[in-house]
Amino acid sequence: MIRDAFNTRIGFILAAAGSAVGLGNIWGFPTQVANHGGGVFLLVYLLVVLILAIPALYTEISLGHAAQANPVQALRSLAQRPAGVGAAAGAGMGYLNVGGAILMLSFYHLVAAWMLAQGLASLALALSLDQLSQWLQTGSHSRDLVLMFAFISLTFGIVIKGVQQGIERWSRRLMPVLVLLLLSLIAYILTLPGASTGLAAYLIPDLSALQQPGLIVAAMGQAFFSLSIGLGGMMIYGSYLPKDTRIGKLVFGVAGLDTLIAFLAGLLIIPALYVAMAQGLSVAEGDQLIGEGQLIFQILPQLFAQLGTAGAWLGFAFFALLSIAALTSTIATAEVPIAYAIEQHQLSRRQAAWIIAALIAVIGSALVIWFEPLFNWVVTYVTQFQLPLSGLFYFIVLGWLWQRSNRLRDLAKQQLKYRLLFWHLRVVCPLLLLWVFVDVAF
Ligand code: ALA
Repeated sequence: MIRDAFNTRIGFILAAAGSAVGLGNIWGFPTQVANHGGGVFLLVYLLVVLILAIPALYTEISLGHAAQANPVQALRSLAQRPAGVGAAAGAGMGYLNVGGAILMLSFYHLVAAWMLAQGLASLALALSLDQLSQWLQTGSHSRDLVLMFAFISLTFGIVIKGVQQGIERWSRRLMPVLVLLLLSLIAYILTLPGASTGLAAYLIPDLSALQQPGLIVAAMGQAFFSLSIGLGGMMIYGSYLPKDTRIGKLVFGVAGLDTLIAFLAGLLIIPALYVAMAQGLSVAEGDQLIGEGQLIFQILPQLFAQLGTAGAWLGFAFFALLSIAALTSTIATAEVPIAYAIEQHQLSRRQAAWIIAALIAVIGSALVIWFEPLFNWVVTYVTQFQLPLSGLFYFIVLGWLWQRSNRLRDLAKQQLKYRLLFWHLRVVCPLLLLWVFVDVAF
């Protein structure tokens, strides 16, 4: 079977950056900044991206690139030392990736549905469709189910068309729109009273906040989620790069874009919080935001409401931004189970897309109906267990198990700088991830 592939390097960078840029950047990152001492989180985050997340991204992409296969097949083939028993462990981790991707898609589509709801509510308000706006704004099972199914249709409507015609083409369209929307929103928010105080809180780090407990682990978790490491999405995108591609620079391009968008999102949200405060809205309890959910679903909508019709359009643009960011991430993650179904079970892309979409619709509906405690359980499993565990396994495969045609291993034999890099990946990075596990567990 001839595998689909990315057509251009820029197509790959935009698709992989699209996979990375998501709700984690625009919602998660600024929330972490607000709750971890402002600019100091930004500093620690940048360090963590350099030391741990870029190596992990390189590792995940190279595994897919070398194997030119879905995570089950890729990890099965690469984790096998000449006399080892790694194949079963590799396949096991591949299955965990496929399962984790399906679970991630289930909760992520529901959250994306909330974004769509808020965006459409603002649009309805701007068009004076007050009743519709009210229905969209008020959480209900029917609203969540309808919009979640709509979002699932968007995701699978794109991936069903394949890598070049679906994923690459749509990433090239959506990513520039996302950047443009983000820049326009920043430009507008910065003109409002209070924004400059927010800007200072974001950009001037208060180094005494470095001692907060949990700061580094929070930055590590954020970096992994933001760069979409540990669910196999980057591995499958790497597998769609031609065999002779040099991936080092591509990895820096993707990580750079993702970090830039997170930074820009901070430039939007942190000043927006101070604008809200200047308008008399309450945004914090002590030094914590009044709640992660409230930032998006309460504080910002209240701020938009105070700004009249301009605010309704602002709200529409803001939630359109979040919906686009979510969509470029769901199409990447959906490709993991789809590629698995096509390559391991000989399904057509169409059959695979329909089956996986149905599965996600069923699990997503269960999350809507039994929200407590299912939703938190699934999010915690994916973000705190699956991502670091996979990251650890990828490092072990690249550093210890994968012997033949391992480019970094070969280069390490010839040059000191690659030897240092190889040791960083095989020893330092796994130890850092073990620290995350111990910290989360105890
Ligand atoms: N990397 C994606 C995000 O940041 C999943 O939301």
